Amino acid sequence: MDVGIVGGTGPAGRALAARLASVGLQVVIGSRSADRAAEIVDDIHKKWPDRDLPLHPAANPQAAAAPLVVLATPWDAAADTAAGLRAELSGKVVVSMGNALAKIDGELQAVVPPGGSVAWGVQAAVPEALVSAAFHHLPARSLGDLNRPASGDVLVCSDHPEAFEATADLIRRVPDLRPFDAGSLAAAGPVEAFTAVLLSLNGRYKGRATIHLTGIDGDNKR
Ligand SMILES: NC(=O)c1ccc[n+]([C@@H]2O[C@H](COP(=O)([O-])OP(=O)(O)OC[C@H]3O[C@@H](n4cnc5c(N)ncnc54)[C@H](OP(=O)(O)O)[C@@H]3O)[C@@H](O)[C@H]2O)c1
Repeated sequence: MDVGIVGGTGPAGRALAARLASVGLQVVIGSRSADRAAEIVDDIHKKWPDRDLPLHPAANPQAAAAPLVVLATPWDAAADTAAGLRAELSGKVVVSMGNALAKIDGELQAVVPPGGSVAWGVQAAVPEALVSAAFHHLPARSLGDLNRPASGDVLVCSDHPEAFEATADLIRRVPDLRPFDAGSLAAAGPVEAFTAVLLSLNGRYKGRATIHLTGIDGDNKR
């Protein structure tokens, strides 16, 4: 296995799983219910019958046994879920993709979780993990549409150079995605919060906007 996605049955997790599998990575889709994970893997295979997607269903602890783990639960469950998988996640690169958002007066707004970001909460829950924050700005609809390239610039934050590199290498596997080093986990809060603006734009203009940086070139090692 290459990547495990904890909470991989939601729109974000399954889109990321399908995209990573489409470039040949072995991906475990994790769930609190292994049966639900199996249903989702079946759904993805039915959606893309002509593609050989190496996807594997599992309960979350098995997904968290992969060498690199993405947390794709709702943001307010990310830290508790990570804490429950502490043994599996210790010493590993763990990618947090949660955005702390709430609908207030009909508008999606960023909320500030303890420590300032979802990723901070995950790192605090499993201090032995090498947490990075990434994938916040890629809409699941376009990420999971394998008929089109998943184009976009992915901001990666981490306190651990090794986690930045592993996350950036994963992103580089997908043609047309570019990783950028956005700094330490202290930068994860504003990166996550900006998703509220993007989602509002996408709602207002009926789009699938993500971010593309101009004025700097990748490739971008620390
Ligand atoms: N949707 C997007 O376009 C997008 C894009 C970028 C980032 N994100 C972020 O990615 C994360 C996942 O987004 P999503 O839309 O896929 O979320 P979601 O559908 O609400 O949740 C994903 C999965 O998490 C599991 N889950 C639900 N409640 C849980 C709980 N209390 N504890 C543990 N697991 C729970 C469920 O899987 P099981 O029931 O199978 O366990 C669910 O299918 C979010 O944090 C979001 O902010 C989303």
